[in-house]
Amino acid sequence: MIAVRRQLPVHSRLTVAQLVRGASAVLGAGVHPDRLLARLASRHSAAGGLGTASGTMALQVAMRFAAGPSRGPIALPAYACYDLATAAIGADVRVLLYDVDPQTLGPDMDTLRRIVAAGARAIVVVHQYGVPVDVPAVRALADEYGIPVIEDAAQAVGGVLEGRPLGSHGDLAIFSFGRGKGMSAAGGGAVLARAHADVAMLAALSWTGPGGAGAGDLLRGAAQWILGRPSTYSLPAALPFLHLGETIYHAPQPARAWSRAVIAMLDGALDRVDAESARRRTRGAHWQGRVPARARLGSHLPAGSAAGYLRLPCRLAAGARREEALALGLPLGIAPGYPKALADLETLAPSLVSSPAAASGARELAATLVTLPTHDLLMARDLTAIERWIDDRL
Ligand SMILES: Cc1ncc(COP(=O)(O)O)c(C=O)c1O
Repeated sequence: MIAVRRQLPVHSRLTVAQLVRGASAVLGAGVHPDRLLARLASRHSAAGGLGTASGTMALQVAMRFAAGPSRGPIALPAYACYDLATAAIGADVRVLLYDVDPQTLGPDMDTLRRIVAAGARAIVVVHQYGVPVDVPAVRALADEYGIPVIEDAAQAVGGVLEGRPLGSHGDLAIFSFGRGKGMSAAGGGAVLARAHADVAMLAALSWTGPGGAGAGDLLRGAAQWILGRPSTYSLPAALPFLHLGETIYHAPQPARAWSRAVIAMLDGALDRVDAESARRRTRGAHWQGRVPARARLGSHLPAGSAAGYLRLPCRLAAGARREEALALGLPLGIAPGYPKALADLETLAPSLVSSPAAASGARELAATLVTLPTHDLLMARDLTAIERWIDDRL
């Protein structure tokens, strides 16, 4: 079977050198989890934290920690990756949803204020696709009520706010190092805390099981290296059980620490992250300028911030022409966003304290959002084809 060339919606490089380091770590060599954690903490102005086997597990730990014995409730955005629902269910916390503003992709401050006044015990903010949320505005609200902010920086690599990388602003911040994130180690995540007391408490709670050698992470890394490129991607994309490019709900798992292989591979990714993110940022800003004003999303950035643009989100109207445009866009790496608002996700419904006050922005995003690729594997012919798609379809 001859593979048809197909672009990836999102990509971050994993090198042979990283895989070799991962392999020697599986065999027991050269792993320094504390040194890596210190490197991540210093990059994000944090006091320390924990390495986990995934970003979802990091969020699960952060939510459980912030919710306290009363199990929350925790404020979540009504439009976000379904892994937020997985983490909330895994942490066994109650949930209140706030709406998302399509102009900023950040919180709709009216609904957020309402659910904080209704008793939220912590606020989760998500830098969707790397577009910065105005965390200082959320922090001001959180401070009024004395509750913490959890900053989900899983998609935020390369973004900047108030002169510091995204992931440096919440009381707790979580990160993902899986496939398709801005800094990839084929898996893994981390939760960082700003206060020394929180770091000590997180460590004392021992909520994460052992991480192990990570042979599975290494194999995933090798598969990512072989199949995560336009010449081969159509092969895994054609396998329905891999659900590539789809948003599906995953049941939660008990939290584990990151593996030795992930630690070694992530150390290599950190060496390259700034150069790679700068290129993604430039490409995203270029697409944002090219997209017509009516199709722009998240274009109102907080003052003094820059978006990381893991992908460039934009709006493609609902209806038959959307299906046709997406069919044409898919081989170019153009992909739909999350198909449902969290407000409409059946598995999350039992955790909701009350039905969402308002989720019109979230539902609008679920019906219309698509993303353009910004990664390094785009070649001149991809750029030309994507420009044509933007001109014809948006
Ligand atoms: C915003 C957000 N949070 C958390 C996660 C979970 O990360 P992981 O895939 O490493 O479990 C993701 C993953 O896509 C995400 O997009």
